[in-house]
Amino acid sequence: MFNKRSRIKDLLANGHQNEEAVVMGWVRTFRNNQFIALNDGSTNNNLQVVVELGAHDDFFLKRITTGSSLKVSGTLVASPGKGQKVELKAKSIEILGDCDAEAYPLQPKKHSLEFLREIAHLRFRTSTFSSVFRVRHALAFAIHKFFNEKGFVYLHTPIITASDAEGAGETFRVTTLPFDNTPRNDDGSVNFKDDFFGRPTNLTVSGQLEGELAALALSDIYTFGPTFRAENSNTARHLAEFWMIEPEMAFYDLEDNMVLAEEFIRYIIRYAMENNKEDLAFLAQRLEEEEKQKPQAERSEMGLLEKLEFVINSPFERVTYTEAIDILMASPAYKKKKFKYEVKWGIDMQSEHERYLVEKHFRKPVIVTDYPKDIKAFYMRQNDDGKTVAAMDILAPGIGEIVGGSQREERLHKLEERMKDMHIPIKEMWWYLDTRRFGTVPHAGFGLGFERMVQFVTGMTNIRDVIAFPRTPKNAEF
Ligand code: 4AD
Ligand code: MG
Repeated sequence: MFNKRSRIKDLLANGHQNEEAVVMGWVRTFRNNQFIALNDGSTNNNLQVVVELGAHDDFFLKRITTGSSLKVSGTLVASPGKGQKVELKAKSIEILGDCDAEAYPLQPKKHSLEFLREIAHLRFRTSTFSSVFRVRHALAFAIHKFFNEKGFVYLHTPIITASDAEGAGETFRVTTLPFDNTPRNDDGSVNFKDDFFGRPTNLTVSGQLEGELAALALSDIYTFGPTFRAENSNTARHLAEFWMIEPEMAFYDLEDNMVLAEEFIRYIIRYAMENNKEDLAFLAQRLEEEEKQKPQAERSEMGLLEKLEFVINSPFERVTYTEAIDILMASPAYKKKKFKYEVKWGIDMQSEHERYLVEKHFRKPVIVTDYPKDIKAFYMRQNDDGKTVAAMDILAPGIGEIVGGSQREERLHKLEERMKDMHIPIKEMWWYLDTRRFGTVPHAGFGLGFERMVQFVTGMTNIRDVIAFPRTPKNAEF
């Protein structure tokens, strides 16, 4: 058995003097032919390995370069250096993998995030990205923990579907039909009878519709999986492949839905704050430095940790869409014509509007409810005013929309009416409508964009930096 090693995180936290230890990891730096900063990804902190002077020949020492991998056995001793209690006095050093310093793209200096995106296969080896991915893991774990404690069932909804849940027409087609010689009908359209599923299919944009089917039997379910959108948005908060968490609850109205969403968000942030203190402290420091590059007016008022602390301790603001539009129209920004996009009742709020509400007006997360029905999906419950639906979006500082959800239309005739108006194929959705035929109940749910949540907690400004291998327009490397 090869892997008899201690994790560097454990040694730094609990190692005591004179303890024998074996560590394995990658060299971050090697100074004065004597001090190796070794990292194994368990923590941002490196273990200082002290090489005994004269114990190795020059040829061997030259092979200890940034990026090379080592197995070191030795004894822990008290460290005279700052910032660490112990260091490892090496008895034996084995080079597991050489790393040509000339060719290795990661140098022990600050690289730009843009450059690191181009070497996403290696960026895990930087302090920033190892922290981001440990925090991402903690959030994913906390999400399962939260729902498990609440008695929710984790439902795996299909990746390949024949529906476009959101009805936005932004799906990726799934097919085995050949590009040349595509089978055609007499009228020239593609004949999907010969396709793998015998019908047009696509990658899912949301697991919600299937989630609803299960919630109307199991009461409380959630999904947590990849979703795909072919929206051509090259922004710092859009991905073509992103992960979404979609809880769906029977016997819930919009108010219940909002209460759950708030509790959920607080819980997972708190979990990361308690379990990833070092990573978050590092990321807070990183963000602070990044902010210093910006003009004063654009800097955030709060540091990362302060912001997270604030969010878990103060209730989210709640406004209706109509109130939100009124606030925007009464704002100095509107009067001074600072908004690029039009503001009036009925618009789909743009990011500048959302940011104004959250960052300038309320200065905290905001839940906007009761949107005009024409800018929302067919399944949302219609309000009595005939104009709005029981929708809720949660807007977060620096991110904008982080959650989208609603109470669902449980009344068959109302739902069918809406589907007709919106040209949703009623016949094909027989299975969805069946739940409204057979024991329908008030129910609600929401979707949290996982990467946007990771952005919020890590303070990373570009969504490409919180998912291992981002899929964006014209980019599917790795
Ligand atoms: O608002 P959306 O489109 O809602 C739904 O898909 C519903 N079916 C959810 C539900 O009620 N069960 O998406 C939900 C969230 C957004 O608020 C946003 O955080 C994230 O998913 N999201 C994206 N994240 C990254 N890249 C994209 N292209 C995203 N599109 C949506
Ligand atoms: Mg939305």
